[in-house]
Amino acid sequence: MKKNLIIVLDFGSQYSYMIAKRIREIGVYSLLLPHNIFINDIIEKNPKGIILSGGPFSVYKNNAPLISKKILELNIPILGICYGMQLISYIFGGKIKKSNYKEYGKSYLVTDKKNFLFKNVPKKSVVWMSHYDEVKNNPKELESIAHTNSCKIAAYKHKEKDIYAVQFHPEVKNTEYGKCILKNFVINICKCNKNWKLEDFVQKQVNSIKNIVSDKKVILGISGGLDSFVTAYIINKAIGNSLICIFIDTGFLLKEEKKTIQFFCKKMNFSIKVIDAVDIFLKKLTGVYNPEIKRKIIGKEFVTLFQKESRKINNVEFLAQGTIYSDVIESSINKNVGLNNFVKSHHNVGGLPKCMKLKLIEPLRKLFKDEVRKIGKSLKLPKEILYKHPFPGPGLSIRIIGKINKRKISILRKAENILLQELKNFNIYNNISQAFIILLPIKSVGVMGDKRSYEHVAVLRVIKTEDFMTSTFYPLSYEFLEIISNRIINEINGINRMVYDITSKPPSTIEWQ
Ligand code: XMP
Repeated sequence: MKKNLIIVLDFGSQYSYMIAKRIREIGVYSLLLPHNIFINDIIEKNPKGIILSGGPFSVYKNNAPLISKKILELNIPILGICYGMQLISYIFGGKIKKSNYKEYGKSYLVTDKKNFLFKNVPKKSVVWMSHYDEVKNNPKELESIAHTNSCKIAAYKHKEKDIYAVQFHPEVKNTEYGKCILKNFVINICKCNKNWKLEDFVQKQVNSIKNIVSDKKVILGISGGLDSFVTAYIINKAIGNSLICIFIDTGFLLKEEKKTIQFFCKKMNFSIKVIDAVDIFLKKLTGVYNPEIKRKIIGKEFVTLFQKESRKINNVEFLAQGTIYSDVIESSINKNVGLNNFVKSHHNVGGLPKCMKLKLIEPLRKLFKDEVRKIGKSLKLPKEILYKHPFPGPGLSIRIIGKINKRKISILRKAENILLQELKNFNIYNNISQAFIILLPIKSVGVMGDKRSYEHVAVLRVIKTEDFMTSTFYPLSYEFLEIISNRIINEINGINRMVYDITSKPPSTIEWQ
């Protein structure tokens, strides 16, 4: 029996993860895997459907990521999206060409033939396109089922097999009937059942952790954020006080962070040990400029400290982490074909040394952020944790661009604290996803109290996002901007100019480093 699973093969599109996420929203489990996964691994996973994602390549280019034709012969329904569409056609012998018009953004899809993929999709609907290449001529096995003004073959299907392909992106919200199309594929064509329920997920994890851990102990790096808190909850439910939460004070924390986490751990009956490592981290990072090196140093030091702590506790065999799926995806590097998805190494994924003796437990590794929050809600976690903005593991260290010192940390911590106060005063905190200040190494001239000042420039970053993989800047009011700028510059020695970051992700990332 096939598993109720859809595999999305990733060809490097920014939105590949979104396909997997949408399918889970439909109620079917979906995994994003590298396109060059061995065919035997696919067979072993036994999915009911495979989706080939988009990607920035042209099928004819050297090093273009290809797949074996055998995948198309597995008798598993397949849907190709954008590059995935061109690839399937190419494998069957079709011709791909640069399109005369670059289609980027909104287009109108006109469906030409009745078929399962377009069930309940009207004759004409808005779709979101993003491509240079397109299928010019299909081989005889494939027939076109839709077009747009500028793209003759905007979708096709195999005449005999359950192989479909679309040039547009159904996973993007701007495609009016995108979810309906994905649902048609997953439910009607692949015959999946909607059985991906997060409630089951918690119980399954609890049972499996109980089995794996048995009478041993687990230490968990708890940060006070949602992910590590939910992780702590699940493991605590499985093994009670055999879980020891370790909170490391790196010195790069926000004001009050340590007190807050201690308070909530006590409230939930988690056993917690606080380690003061302020001096260690500062010493290690002194003189370091490069953000990736900062992350690597911090990641390594975290693990060293965990290992050291674990030796002090009897019977510890496991290290738990609140890693979630977007950490895994963003830290993944696909070296084989020059496909480079690497953005930045989130320390809990990239920084673990090969010789680490503790075995890893990461119950949320396959979940998206909104799924983790749903679980948190169902577990009735405190609101302060559920709706808390994320805070990166390396903390303030990656928000101080360039070299770090005590003074800069203190300036930034004060600025972040003022921002937090005002976000709460203005009732903005719960409408946004993340807000913080970045301290630049650039100094600018100002005039304060009739005197010349020469101090740091600070950047305000306030964003809104569904899942932290893409984001837009938040349209703050001028009144808020004015108050924030006035308070930070007047109350803190060391900043004399504030600017507001209005970029979205992509092309930028949320943090500056
Ligand atoms: P970026 O900057 O990658 O951020 O767009 C996406 C989300 O991840 C957080 N972030 C991190 N979290 N360790 C973490 O635990 C890290 O190294 C790290 N870098 C970024 C960031 O704050 C945002 O919420």
